[in-house]
Amino acid sequence: MFEALPALSPDPILGLSAAFKEDSNPHKIDLGVGVYKDEHGNTPILKAVSLAQQELDKRETSKVYITPQGHQGYIDGMLSLILGAQSPVLKDNRVAGVQAPGGCGALRILAELLMRCNKDTVVWVSDPTWANHIPLLGDAGLTLKTYPYFDKASASIKFEAMMDCLKEVKKGDVVLLHGCCHNPTGADLTNKQWQSLTELAVKNGFLPFVDLAYQGFGESLEEDVYGLRLLAESVDEMVIAASCSKNFGLYRERVGLAAIIGKDANTKKITQSQIQSVARGIYSMPPSYGGALVDIILANEKLSEVWKDEVTEMRERMITLRKLLVDNLHKQGVDKDFDFVNRQKGMFSFLCISPEHVRTLRSEHSVYFVDSSRVNIAGINHSNVEVLAKAIADTLKSH
Ligand SMILES: Cc1ncc(COP(=O)(O)O)c(C=O)c1O
Repeated sequence: MFEALPALSPDPILGLSAAFKEDSNPHKIDLGVGVYKDEHGNTPILKAVSLAQQELDKRETSKVYITPQGHQGYIDGMLSLILGAQSPVLKDNRVAGVQAPGGCGALRILAELLMRCNKDTVVWVSDPTWANHIPLLGDAGLTLKTYPYFDKASASIKFEAMMDCLKEVKKGDVVLLHGCCHNPTGADLTNKQWQSLTELAVKNGFLPFVDLAYQGFGESLEEDVYGLRLLAESVDEMVIAASCSKNFGLYRERVGLAAIIGKDANTKKITQSQIQSVARGIYSMPPSYGGALVDIILANEKLSEVWKDEVTEMRERMITLRKLLVDNLHKQGVDKDFDFVNRQKGMFSFLCISPEHVRTLRSEHSVYFVDSSRVNIAGINHSNVEVLAKAIADTLKSH
């Protein structure tokens, strides 16, 4: 029966990694896959995580299953981190949550829940959005539509067009928003734009679905959730998918959170039972390890401080790298104004160059990133930035 299925081409980003590995150029540069890298190109285990591992080694006396909702300490810690310890929705006991296998797991759980509410649910996603949003939400059966978001020509958000489109969205439709550090563009809404969007959500009654995969990588742990918290305090209902892959560096441990804000504490009982049942029907229980580590870090003041300092260090390094790239591009005498890279946030930037230029960079200079021109800023370092800027400048001049 399987032979009737078509063989699929590899995921473009994973295909790019394979091509990078095979390239023998000693000066090759990988700006493809979205993982944080240090100055030496490594993705280290955070110090706070290492310390939590030692603690967990002492504490963990069994590998028996945990529950479908995961570690309650982890869920509570993450909800405080995201919504704020004093959040009115937490005080009013309106938030249901489960520990999920990564942000991807959280997105899928919430998609399945939305399907249980209404199988005709329409989800509006930004154009462009993270490529994996499409299968994570679409394969659950949700109907996806796009709203305008980013204009490559001016390297900025098309906020007016975005709002014009969202004004037409029906009550009950879902609007997927990137909490911060928009993937792939790095272009985030301003606080004022979040305010207008929130007013619209309240007025028109669409359901905000916030994907938060980079808290702390933009401005700070608090500032990065300005929009999310404003929405949470303003609308009756909302869903949140969060990831600990990047800001805790726990990629392979698969740690995320699916949260639902309902109208009241009674609705929470319903949503809590429903998401646990969704989780039970897909993978039964989440992996324990990563959630237990985050629980230990967030519950311990000293470890939390160590972790927050590490998040700050990662964020500041990426801000420095943006500046370094732009300065080097200027030094190479490029005509294009790349200053927008300094205004973008988090791990990604759209360089806003053509797919042909991206392919030339790959074939002639061994610089690897996806055709959309999304680059992983953390893949830049002091040793490769000059080579990179020269490759970009040469490509733009000669093609
Ligand atoms: C926008 C966005 N959402 C969610 C995720 C989910 O990450 P993970 O499943 O690794 O936690 C990612 C990861 O790259 C992402 O970029």
